[in-house]
Amino acid sequence: MEAFTQKQNGGGLKKKLKDIQFQGDEESNKSLSYERVSVSAEYLLKGTKHRPKIAIICGSGLAGLADLLEDADIFPYEQIPHFPVSTVHGHKSRMLFGLYQNIEVLVMQGRFHAYEGYPLGQCAMPVRVMKLIGIENLIVTNAAGGLNPSFRAGDVMLVKDHINMPGFTGMHPLRGPNDGRFGGRFFALNDCYDKEYRIMAKKIHKNMEENSPGALHEGVYAMLGGPNFETVAELRMLKVCGVDAVGMSTIPEVLVARHCGISVFAFSLITNECILEEDADEMANHEEVIATANHRQEQLRAFVAKMIIGINEKGSKKTNGTINGCAKVMAEYSQ
Ligand code: HPA
Repeated sequence: MEAFTQKQNGGGLKKKLKDIQFQGDEESNKSLSYERVSVSAEYLLKGTKHRPKIAIICGSGLAGLADLLEDADIFPYEQIPHFPVSTVHGHKSRMLFGLYQNIEVLVMQGRFHAYEGYPLGQCAMPVRVMKLIGIENLIVTNAAGGLNPSFRAGDVMLVKDHINMPGFTGMHPLRGPNDGRFGGRFFALNDCYDKEYRIMAKKIHKNMEENSPGALHEGVYAMLGGPNFETVAELRMLKVCGVDAVGMSTIPEVLVARHCGISVFAFSLITNECILEEDADEMANHEEVIATANHRQEQLRAFVAKMIIGINEKGSKKTNGTINGCAKVMAEYSQ
């Protein structure tokens, strides 16, 4: 009966689908628009004296990274104009501006995912707000399943490269008209994850010795849309494609950051080993993800603290190649 109705309404249904698609794109584009993100940025700049150049996005179970901050100004997402709210268990929903050893840092506790229903542009809009605030370096963290057979739960993988699986179907946070104030239409990603910061992280990890947050690897991260954990066939396919860790986030934010010239350092906490047998007894589950993250919380905080110091030293000497589209907002609110 349903098939018959759909056939009868063939034209109408197609139009409806087109409308839905259009609305999705339109909403995504609006979320990233200068007009909207500048309102969010102005609100934040008015509400804090801090002017950070380093930002951290906390992944699942990693909100404790914000405990590094002193003298923090806290902004719940629901109070920031145009901000979405995080709906995932294990994710808080607030932005903090504070100091770590006198270095100004912005921390996002809780991020937005495609599986929550947000268009990718909306998932990544906080990064454009960061750009207008003056962020030059972004530390992106996530919880991920380890696909590489040498990875164990509790290990850390520095992201060296990624595979944007949604991108294969044309899903991209920057799909739609390009705003040249943020960056060019076409942009290269062969240097997506800052090499200097990866070298720095390896040195830091080595010096942490027994206090280090698990074994350190470097590898390729792939994002799938979720919310389900992957099927065994999907995981096998990703493995053949050279993927080391798989998750449901990070890439939209990284794409928007690189587009506007923000340097990116990203790492995955391997919270579970991917199950590569259909008939295995274990099942991937969110509780394991959160439990592993909690277990590693303290060591990861120490690792990130050292990265902040290193990035602050190096980052201040780096030049940030893109045009600065936020001159107006920055001029008005800079100290
Ligand atoms: N798959 C996808 N996302 C994840 C996983 C996983 O195994 N673990 C944590 N986030």
